[in-house]
Amino acid sequence: MSGYIIRGGIPLSGSVTISGAKNAASAIIPATIMTDEPCRIENVPDVADIAVYLNILRRMGAEVRDAGGGAYEIDCSGVTTHTATSDDMRKLRASYYLIGALLSRFGRADVAMPGGCNFGAPRQIDQHIKGLTALGASISIKNGVLTATTDGRLHGASIFIDGIPSVGATANIMLAAVTASGTTIIENAAREPHIVDLVTFLGLMGADIHGAGTDVIRIHGVDKLHGGTHAIIPDQIEAGTYIAAAVGTGGRVEIKNVIPKHLECISGKLREMGASIFESSDTSVIADGSGRFRNIDVTAMPYPGFPTDMQPQAAVLLCLADGTSTVTDNVFATRFQYIDELVKMGASIKVTGRTAIINGVQSLTGAPLKAGDLRACAALVIAGLCARGTTELEGVRYIERGYVDVVGKLRALGADITSVGAPALSDMAI
Ligand code: EPU
Repeated sequence: MSGYIIRGGIPLSGSVTISGAKNAASAIIPATIMTDEPCRIENVPDVADIAVYLNILRRMGAEVRDAGGGAYEIDCSGVTTHTATSDDMRKLRASYYLIGALLSRFGRADVAMPGGCNFGAPRQIDQHIKGLTALGASISIKNGVLTATTDGRLHGASIFIDGIPSVGATANIMLAAVTASGTTIIENAAREPHIVDLVTFLGLMGADIHGAGTDVIRIHGVDKLHGGTHAIIPDQIEAGTYIAAAVGTGGRVEIKNVIPKHLECISGKLREMGASIFESSDTSVIADGSGRFRNIDVTAMPYPGFPTDMQPQAAVLLCLADGTSTVTDNVFATRFQYIDELVKMGASIKVTGRTAIINGVQSLTGAPLKAGDLRACAALVIAGLCARGTTELEGVRYIERGYVDVVGKLRALGADITSVGAPALSDMAI
């Protein structure tokens, strides 16, 4: 078996330092291609998805230097290609950001269609295409490659994102619009912290963007972007995952290097369950989980709602709550592949439509498990930590795509978790 062996039942204690946000880095790193001046990006998380992205840039001609301490110096002056069609591109969801970034720099992008976690239903990019088309791009898809071209410069437009405010579409449209002529208005824009972080970086590159963090973003196109230095925000979801692990095991953990405001949407629901979560400084919170949880209803929504990326972790805690709880995902309708695994541990859960109905049980028991996506894997790690007995978890390459040194950080909190035969990050970074 290759994966993690977890002996559960130990309350976590101590402190953990949160790394840079994967989903912010996934947008900011491709944005460096939009200038021929050097950029320095700090607080870059050392996770497989980001290592793959940095290698994609290297292969395109960028000079990427690991400056130590999570900082990278990225010089894209040597990038002369608008083509990114390697197999690595298909492994990442966020490879779609190269469409907007390359269109902005070269007026053309030939980019492999994105991959990413499989939630059981196709993950669309129709809103990206709609937005980029409104800016004047002509888009076609053939043999798994999306080609976007322009007759000269993109132009500003009013774009309404249909349905759920898409994080990916909002960011991609912004990337393309910053150097378009005139003004672009994105309505029903995503408000996630990583959207605001991308705008902070684009702003210091010289972009003129207003309204980030609200549902209307206005972009006044500029002729040229320049380089700059930016530190990526702490990862809201990594922090939320450690909060859930702390309270689920009945432990007490200080979560350091966070923006407490970004955690409110998570902490608020966990407090409703009976957990105690409070700010211990401007950049840290303490999560304390002694006692049984109360049953609650959780609905995953775009920010500032409860994040879909925390929905599986919340479901694990609700397995251990009194009474019946529900978890509804209004972002991804079918993000429930982890449920069968929790049932193997003794959980009582039924899924109807986009809602999981959870009847709390006294305890979970360790079992052989297999994870099928990143946050499912995080949830199953938490379940293993909370359970009685031993859990053997396969599929851990998913968690290593998005969490920095999860085994080391958990062991430092007292968890009994060991990685056996799992591929090292360097093996996975292509
Ligand atoms: N959607 C469309 N059309 C589109 C784009 C999205 O219908 O063109 C739908 C999706 O199917 C979904 C909803 O809109 O139902 C929201 O999707 P969104 O575009 O916001 O998600 P994403 O860009 O594919 C990013 C994160 C996800 C995170 C979601 C929601 C990255 C690389 N991925 O995905 O992160 O769950 O936003 O916050 O930033 C993760 O980290 O585990 C992860 C999956």
